[in-house]
Parts: sequence; structure tokens; C-alpha cells
Amino acid sequence: FSAFLTDSFGRRHNYLRISLTEKCNLRCQYCMPEEGVKLTPRGQLLSTSEVLTLAQLFVREGVDKIRLTGGEPLIRPDVLDIITELKKLVGLKTVAVTTNGINLSRLLPKLKDAGLDLINISLDSLVPAKFEFVVRRKGFHKVMESIDKAVELGYNPVKINCVVMRGLNEDELLDFVQLTEKKPLEVRFIEYMPFDGNKWNFKKMVSYQEMLDQIRQQWPNLERLQSGPADTAKTFKVPGFKGQLGFITSMSDNFCGSCNRLRITADGNLKVCLFGNSEVSLRDILRSGASDEELLRIIGAAVGRKKKQHAGMFTISQMKNRPMVLIGG
Ligand code: GTP
Ligand code: 5AD
Ligand code: SF4
Repeated sequence: FSAFLTDSFGRRHNYLRISLTEKCNLRCQYCMPEEGVKLTPRGQLLSTSEVLTLAQLFVREGVDKIRLTGGEPLIRPDVLDIITELKKLVGLKTVAVTTNGINLSRLLPKLKDAGLDLINISLDSLVPAKFEFVVRRKGFHKVMESIDKAVELGYNPVKINCVVMRGLNEDELLDFVQLTEKKPLEVRFIEYMPFDGNKWNFKKMVSYQEMLDQIRQQWPNLERLQSGPADTAKTFKVPGFKGQLGFITSMSDNFCGSCNRLRITADGNLKVCLFGNSEVSLRDILRSGASDEELLRIIGAAVGRKKKQHAGMFTISQMKNRPMVLIGG
């Protein structure tokens, strides 16, 4: 495995998350402020060919999974071309997307033809009015339709990302678990994380332990499943249910020790940790006409500076970072 993608703690970064756009057709409360964020001028965003050049370089060094994020990745006009081209890269096993599901149902057949392997869909409430309150836009039924269509097209499991916030949706956990009875879904409850402009506070965060206690009261025989070595989620199953559930415990029990992820933002910065604020512009290096070796040296140096783990929820909530919409999760 490439020394450039191995950090000083021996973690091998074989999973690259590329944000394709800063734009989004929703305005989720946990992701950005109501008024939205200041967008980078178009010319400073990575072009199709720059995305592909960087992807190719990372894959050559050992990345075998790329997830496309945003903003909302499916609103980028060249998303199908990007997936088609990524699927030609030898060594890249998995191309995934994380989407809000609004445009997904319409695009799904083409995404599948392009070779998209995995789909994660955000859904924070099963009550239409509450959904609209959280995302500050309409579209509940479109998301539900997308989930069903993804299942129909054979995506298994379709992962559902549910950010749990006290006073908003922590009363819906059981309904979300119930969704996994008949459908091959993996519903993942995510601890609310702090980012610039999302008004995080400790009291709004519902911890893994609290969620698990609540669900165990209803389903005492909940079964723990084995997770993969670098998975973000701790997974469980209600015996007899078709799907499963997961908890993403970034705040109460971080999984930094097995982190295998690097990120490239839509404006071309390499971000080695979701909660780190040191970034390096790969776009500028590319545009200066640097060689692959030069790029790799800079990538390797950034990976080499990656911290052992994030600084803890209280510290990161005080730190300057980007708003989530400009990172991509
Ligand atoms: P899979 O590839 O299906 O395992 O998805 P994923 O969990 O890697 O990605 P997804 O985009 O679905 O993100 C789900 C949640 O996990 C979001 O809240 C992300 O912000 C969070 N997440 C993803 N990667 C990391 C990470 O490296 N560190 C932390 N702390 N959270 C992460
Ligand atoms: N805390 C936890 N998860 C978040 N996401 C977005 N913002 C936050 C936050 N503040 C999740 C969404 C989306 C994924 C990319 O990141 O659920 O599916
Ligand atoms: Fe990796 Fe940083 Fe997430 Fe920890 S917080 S798992 S180091 S990206």
C-alpha cells in the first residue's frame, strides 16, 4: 500500500470522499445556516477532468472506494459521466454516493447503468411536516419514492442516514427501526456533530447509549452484528427483520483509530480529517502543472500530519471548520 496514503499511526487511507458541488436543493438545519453559505466561484471548483485526474492518482496509490458527496452530488450535471469514468479505473472496487434523495428516483436507472455500486440516502423524519421543518424545503414523498426505487433496482442494503437531534426526531427511532422489518434497509442513527453554522450544542445531541436503551426497551433481543474493520457504524438487527440498523457514534465513541478516509472538497482541498481544519489545495497544485510525483509528495505530507483522533466534541464545537455542506460528511 502507498506510503503517501499511510499516516504516522499506520492507518491506510483506501476510501476517498469527493465532494462534487457546494450547492444543495435542501437546507438541512444540521448542515448549514438558513440563509445558505457563500459559494465558491465556478472557476475555482474542480472540473470534471480535474476530479478524474485526482481520482486516478489516488486509485493508483491504493484507494479502492470513492464516495461522491456534496452539497447534493446529484445536482452536478456531469455526475453520470464522472461515475462512468470512475468505473473504468482499474483497482477501484466501489463507487458510492450519499444523496438527499430528492432527484434520485428520476436518475436511478442511469446511475445504475453507469455502474454506481452503493447508495446512502439522508432521511431524518418519517413525518412529512417534520421532514420539511428539518430540511427547510419540501420533498418528503420524493425521498420515500427514491428509497423504494433503489431497493427495487437491487441496491442492498440501501443505507438511510438519520441525524438524531433532541426535540426534533428522537421520538421517531422506533418507527425508523420498524422500517427495517420488511425492507432491506440499513437505517443508521447518527449522533449530531458540530460544524460551522449548525448551532450544535451538547444538549441537542442524543448519544448512542441513549438511542440503544430506547430501542432495546422495544426490542430487548436486538442482536449486535459484526462490522467491517473501518466501518463508521456499529450495526444491529432485530431478529427476523429483513434490514438492519446502525449507529454512527462520532461524538460519544469515535472510530478514528480505524479511520481510512480522506476527503477532497468541491473547491479542490484535501482534508485529512472531518474535524481537522488544516487543508491543502490540490487544485492549485494541479493547475500549476505539477507532476504526479509533486502532487503525491504534498498529499503524503498532509496525510502524515493527520492527528490520531479528533479533539473531542467540546473542542471541535469551538474550532473553526467548514459548514458541513462544504465538506460532504
Ligand atoms: P459507508 O460507505 O456506507 O460506510 O458510508 P459512510 O458512513 O462512510 O458515509 P456517509 O456519507 O453515509 O456518512 C454517514 C455519516 O458518517 C455522516 O454523518 C458522515 O459525516 C459520517 N462520517 C463519514 N465519514 C466519517 C469520518 O471519517 N469520521 C466521522 N467522524 N464521521 C464520518
Ligand atoms: N451531524 C451528523 N451527521 C451529519 N450529516 C450532515 N450533517 C451532519 C451533522 N451535523 C450527515 C447527513 C448526510 C451525511 C453526508 O452527513 O446525514 O447523510
Ligand atoms: Fe477519521 Fe477524523 Fe472522522 Fe476520526 S474524525 S474518523 S480521524 S475523519
